[in-house]
Amino acid sequence: MIRAAVTGACGRMGTLIIQNILVAQDMELSAAFDITNTGIDVGEAIGSGQLGVPVSNPDDMENVIRETGTQVVIDFTIAVAAAGNVVRAANAGANLVVGTTGFSEEQMQQMHHAINDNGVAAVISPNFAVGVNIFWELLKEAAGKLGGFDVEIMEVHHNMKKDAPSGTAMKAAEVINDVLGGRDYVYGRQGIAPRGDEIGIHAVRGGDVVGDHTVMFFGDGERIEVRHQAHSRQAFAGGAVRAAGWVMEQSAGVYGMADVLGLGK
Ligand SMILES: NC(=O)c1ccc[n+]([C@@H]2O[C@H](COP(=O)([O-])OP(=O)(O)OC[C@H]3O[C@@H](n4cnc5c(N)ncnc54)[C@H](O)[C@@H]3O)[C@@H](O)[C@H]2O)c1
Repeated sequence: MIRAAVTGACGRMGTLIIQNILVAQDMELSAAFDITNTGIDVGEAIGSGQLGVPVSNPDDMENVIRETGTQVVIDFTIAVAAAGNVVRAANAGANLVVGTTGFSEEQMQQMHHAINDNGVAAVISPNFAVGVNIFWELLKEAAGKLGGFDVEIMEVHHNMKKDAPSGTAMKAAEVINDVLGGRDYVYGRQGIAPRGDEIGIHAVRGGDVVGDHTVMFFGDGERIEVRHQAHSRQAFAGGAVRAAGWVMEQSAGVYGMADVLGLGK
C-alpha cells in the first residue's frame, strides 16, 4: 500500500483527493495537512466520518512524514504555501505531486532544487485532467500549422479562485509560444491598445465554473477555437491520484502529467 499525505486537505481539491485515496486499491491516507482544522480528525473536517488521521500543522510536516511513513505528498494549496511544503516534504524524503498553481519563477526554482537535492521524484502540473493534457497537444499542432494567425486565450473560473490567469492558460500560452516563438503576452486590454505580435490572455471569474479554457486562432475571414471544459473537479483529482501512484515507480527528478500519460514532453 502506498502511504499518501494530502496538504490543503480541507480545501475543495484536497477533500476530493482524500475521497479518491479512500477508495483506491493500492493507496492509503497516511497524513493530512492544513492551516485550518488542525488537531481535528480530517474525516470529520471534510464530512467523511472518522478516519483516524488528524489534520496536522504544515510546520510539523517533516516529523509527521517520518512518523507516519508517508511516501508521497499531494499538494493543492496556494503558491506561497506550496513552495515551503515541497521543500519540507522533499527534505523528509517523500515523493511529490504538486497541483498548486500561480508559482513565481523563483518559487518554481526553489521547488526544483529541493526535489533534485533530496533525490526524490515529483510530478508538477497546473492541470491533472487527461483532457487538458491532450488540449495542450492539440494547441502545439494547431500553432505549428497556423503560424500567421492571431492567438487569444480565454479562461473562465469560479469566483473563489485566487490566482489569475490560470496556470492552465499560462501553460497554453507557453506551449504555443514554444512553437511560434517570441510573442509577448498581453493580459486583458484597456484604453488605446492596438494589437501587436502578441498572445492575448483573458481571465473571467464568476459563479461556480470548474474551469473552461478556449484558445482562438484568427485568420483572414475565419477562426478555429480549441476548447476544454472541466465539468467536475474529479477530472483533476483522479489524475492527481493516478500521478501519485506513477511517481512512486520513477527515479529522482521532476516530471509533468504528459509523462504520466506517456505523451512525451
Ligand atoms: N493542477 C490541477 O489540476 C488543479 C486543479 C484545480 C485546482 N488547482 C489549484 O489547486 C490549488 C487549490 O485549489 P482549491 O480550489 O482546492 O483551493 P481551496 O482554497 O479550496 O483550498 C486550499 C486549501 O489549502 C489550505 N492551505 C493554505 N495554506 C496552507 C499551508 N501552508 N499548508 C497546508 N494547507 C494550506 C487552505 O486552508 C485550504 O484548505 C489552487 O492553486 C488551484 O489553482 C489545480
